Amino acid sequence: MSHSNSRRQFLTKSGLAAAALSLGIFSRASENRTNVREKKKELEVYKKGLALSTWNAGIIANNAALATMSTGGNATDMAEEGVKVIEADYSNLSVGLGGLPDREGHTTLDACIMNSIGQAGSVCFLEKIKHPVTVARMVMERTPHVMMVGEGAQQFALSQGMTLEDYESPEAVKAYKEWLVKSEYKPIINIENHDTIGMLTMDTNGDIAGSCTTSGLAFKMRGRVGDSPIIGAGLYIDNEIGGATGTGLGETVLRSCTAFLIVELMRQGASPQEACEEAIKRVEKINRFMKDDYQVGFLAVNKQGEVGAFGLRPGFNYALHKNGANQLIDAKYHLKK
Ligand code: GLY
Repeated sequence: MSHSNSRRQFLTKSGLAAAALSLGIFSRASENRTNVREKKKELEVYKKGLALSTWNAGIIANNAALATMSTGGNATDMAEEGVKVIEADYSNLSVGLGGLPDREGHTTLDACIMNSIGQAGSVCFLEKIKHPVTVARMVMERTPHVMMVGEGAQQFALSQGMTLEDYESPEAVKAYKEWLVKSEYKPIINIENHDTIGMLTMDTNGDIAGSCTTSGLAFKMRGRVGDSPIIGAGLYIDNEIGGATGTGLGETVLRSCTAFLIVELMRQGASPQEACEEAIKRVEKINRFMKDDYQVGFLAVNKQGEVGAFGLRPGFNYALHKNGANQLIDAKYHLKK
């Protein structure tokens, strides 16, 4: 190679290198600007906190969660205090001691909670205790276990200072008497007749937690437990990725492990909305043998404070408290009716 040729090649190469270098710097600079923007967006959400919960009772629950945060509560406190307000509302026929009974006439409660360090607590088939979510939190924080059921869960609650409450909701008793006439087991879940409060929270540190509580399906078989207290089905949190919760006919959700599925889909890059939509399709596919119509709805949040919501059918709504505003939103859905 002549000297002039090699010099030309060197100049060409160094020209390309310079261009590549400057492009690299440019793309790095633009990446940095995007990161700064994203980071700022995250910080804005963190600063104001976030609560996301199923159905219209979620508005009150979200307010309670944000009030808890404003007095120094973290995401777990928000998730517990938020749904406690609904458990304490005895006019609610699907959560807490005011809930519709099983077919033997007893109201039995299921709840769970998960915090941002991967701990979980759950109670099922719990009777006469006002705040199952608090018992779930005590299981999480005060025992080496994750789940306690029935009499044992009740004994544990009493040992922790809770008291038995013999509340009978007049509305629930009336509905039970009417149901007894035909004793038909036909769960219909929708805006007017829903079944669970599932809540996801994010605190000022950007930590995520969640809770889920219900009296379960009206007039269920005695001993029946749905998805709500099952970690991975009714609720799942991974603080590095996000969280998910759900509502609807528990059996269909149990077969699909959807809360865990949604978080895993987000881990693989799906947005919360995409993950909820995929999970609904999965539920539909897994439960394709079901003859009766049923409803299922999911909520998700990721680490950036982006949220997703999707129902199998029309009628699922949710409450979102974000950037200081709390609003009730109709979720998009998969099937026309
Ligand atoms: N999703 C509440 C239940 O099926 O019990």
